Amino acid sequence: MKTKLIYLQPTPVRIWHWLNALGIVTLCISGAQIRFPEFISICGNYRSAILLHNTAGIVVALSFSFWFFYYKLVSGNLVDIYVPKVQELSNGLMKQIFFYFYAYFKGAASPFHATPENKFNPMQKSAYLAVMFVIVPLVSLTGIMLLNIGPLRQMLLVIGGLGVVATLHFLLACVLGAFLVTHVYLATLGSTPLAYFKPMWTGWEKVEHHHEHEPPHGAATDNVH
Ligand code: HEM
Repeated sequence: MKTKLIYLQPTPVRIWHWLNALGIVTLCISGAQIRFPEFISICGNYRSAILLHNTAGIVVALSFSFWFFYYKLVSGNLVDIYVPKVQELSNGLMKQIFFYFYAYFKGAASPFHATPENKFNPMQKSAYLAVMFVIVPLVSLTGIMLLNIGPLRQMLLVIGGLGVVATLHFLLACVLGAFLVTHVYLATLGSTPLAYFKPMWTGWEKVEHHHEHEPPHGAATDNVH
């Protein structure tokens, strides 16, 4: 069995991902201090926590726009990469969940193999779809509203007032925090603990190459069945 390298993560995706990760970790820490100032003081005083939170929020919102711009307009495969097909959900999703909850601990290999055209397994696709199309946009939108209470007063009132928007922002951030912990844990379940981290850093993933003449496109779809 040979191994070969495939180019899985283009440079703009890697820049977005690590900027986004740094921004969101900063937001979680500074946000926790803003919400519970009596227990947390990692970011200095209350004012500096707010300043850091607002700055990191703007960085995340801008990098999100960069991610969207890249996938939608430059590589043009946003939907193919992020939106699972019915068949992937009906068949591949359960297989992948079974793998992570059971088969992995029995030493089995993942039932899915990434290709540049289809790089997420059905579980990743579903989670990333929810995070990138619902959670991050909504947490950013509520954050932008809280940052511009004066000019966006009417909009705030329509939704139910400052309290409702602040609560929504907090609950969405908790969902994002839960995603982050799960995401980092699952990212360590490759053939080695760093196997999934390397492509997100260098762009290249090492894959096992079974058949010399296997068509490159068939590989990923075959593996979700
Ligand atoms: C310390 C924080 C983080 C670490 C260590 C981390 C790690 C990784 C790794 C290793 C991958 C590649 C493997 C895979 O596709 O699952 C990845 C991909 C991804 N991560 Fe993260 N991540 C972090 C934070 C985040 C956050 C905060 C988000 C979203 C809010 C996020 C969203 C994504 C998405 C959408 C992908 C797929 C990107 C693409 O190929 O288009 N990650 N992450």
